[in-house]
Amino acid sequence: MTQANMIQPAEIASQPEGWQDRALTDLIRYIVSKHHAYLREELPAIDRLLAAPTIDKSDARAAELGRLANLFRQFRRGIEEHLKKEEAILFPMIEKIEAARHSGHEMPRFPFGSIAHPISVMEQEHERARQELAQIRTITSGYAPPAGLSDDQSSAFQKLQDVESDLEVHSRLEDEVLFPRAIGLERV
Ligand SMILES: [Fe+2]
Ligand SMILES: [Fe+2]
Repeated sequence: MTQANMIQPAEIASQPEGWQDRALTDLIRYIVSKHHAYLREELPAIDRLLAAPTIDKSDARAAELGRLANLFRQFRRGIEEHLKKEEAILFPMIEKIEAARHSGHEMPRFPFGSIAHPISVMEQEHERARQELAQIRTITSGYAPPAGLSDDQSSAFQKLQDVESDLEVHSRLEDEVLFPRAIGLERV
């Protein structure tokens, strides 16, 4: 088996199928410590790399890089707000629902009604992040760095591609496991 088709342990741990029977609290801990922590480290690093002025402003590539940096910053702002909302509001609510279901206590009541409402907002934000990354992928012709960039700045393009892959795995864990199971627990 070659390196390319070997499944790495981190990828196995992030497969939605492996989380269907486990506690949502554990899944939340896993998402925050793996996927949220990854984004919090990588997004500022990519921002710094894209902002480094390595090409003369009169070079046509400087305008492309400027456009990429602006699109990336818009994506970064949105996703960082999204992580904060999940960690400060939605995830603690899901933990309360799971605890109430297991202890047999009354379901918590939220000012916005069902947990399905904030979840649908998070799902829309996942879709927006996907679209923003698809736009970044298009304008970079599939994350290809323009010729003449420093190695450091070129590495930002690989990092962007890695962010897109990681976000896909991360969003699937939430969209396919965490969110539907939380809605199911509230309804039972
Ligand atoms: Fe998340
Ligand atoms: Fe999310």
